[in-house]
Amino acid sequence: EKAGYDHFMLKEIHEQPESLRRAISGRLSNGNSQVILDELNLAADEINNYERIYIVACGTAYHSGLVAKYLIEDLVRIPVEVDIASEFRYRNPLVNDKTLVIVVSQSGETADTLAALREAQDRGAKVIAISNVVGSTIPREADEVIYIHAGPEIAVASTKAYINMLIVFYLLTIYLAQLKETISEEEIKRLIKALKQLPNQVAQIIKDSESEIKRFASDYAEYENAFFIGRSLDYAVALEGALKLKEISYIHAESYAAGELKHGTLALIEEGVPVIALATQNSVVDKMLSNIKEVQAREASVTGIVLSDEDEVFKSLDHTIEIPTTEELLTSILTVVPLQLLAYHVAVERGCDVDQPRNLAKSVTVE
Ligand code: M6R
Repeated sequence: EKAGYDHFMLKEIHEQPESLRRAISGRLSNGNSQVILDELNLAADEINNYERIYIVACGTAYHSGLVAKYLIEDLVRIPVEVDIASEFRYRNPLVNDKTLVIVVSQSGETADTLAALREAQDRGAKVIAISNVVGSTIPREADEVIYIHAGPEIAVASTKAYINMLIVFYLLTIYLAQLKETISEEEIKRLIKALKQLPNQVAQIIKDSESEIKRFASDYAEYENAFFIGRSLDYAVALEGALKLKEISYIHAESYAAGELKHGTLALIEEGVPVIALATQNSVVDKMLSNIKEVQAREASVTGIVLSDEDEVFKSLDHTIEIPTTEELLTSILTVVPLQLLAYHVAVERGCDVDQPRNLAKSVTVE
């Protein structure tokens, strides 16, 4: 059932182009000029009533929400709060009938996320669930559901579900922007065109980078600490990359917004410390270049995830992985792929139980 792969996680990483295609399928108009989410019952005047959106989830699903915040705020211009379900539920959150709450859960059974959903509904909010498992508790109790159609995810470490949560958030963002008319028809067409290329681009990254990542994974297997840095959307993805590495390879990994390094973390950077620098956001790439120089000056070992390694600074890195160019807002789906592969191959090098990491369960139905 692993279809020839050594682990479910690797199989699921390789399934990502197909699972993205499934999530997009049937959700674009003929002519690719509109996003269609027939499952949603949201009228334009209802959307205009919302003063704030809350995205609530745990773990990797929470990380998908951090990406969504950038997208929705940028294109729909509604303030978005992203909260960890176990914090939200005990926090007297500012939620009422002018708040749209989106809960995200692959399994649809996570106890804290379910409790957050009920808390939000009790306070009068409408709740949309984004989930993978049809008929699970969270989609059943939510007011509206969007399924991510990733197919069964067996490995405890989430990969294809994360990517499909992102694509669903891209679709939902464009859909909300259509309703609120916050972006032009031209812009919608441009985004949809780029979105349709993502499955092939993910396949291309796997093909182009996996053998190289596998090769340098043996260096990483020796480390006990690693730092992930990025700005803007890359910071959100860096958090997911660090979680993946921790979860399956047991290497302590931290993610920082690169501009925060100077405010404390830089003290930990010394010779040989591994830093994975995500630099795929053109709007802040110059800032990232100076952050990379900062850690290089302390002799860190730097792996860059970049759009093109043409810049001299990128050429000087210990390893670079190039990802194909897409719309800046859509890069996260591509950026995460090398991080998933890195975590996987490092864990294998370290002899870890990749699909069943210690102390963890696939579905966390108790708090
Ligand atoms: O099923 P859910 O999406 O609600 O699960 C949430 C987290 O438990 C889950 O994403 C966890 O963080 C993953 N094991 C990370 O790979």
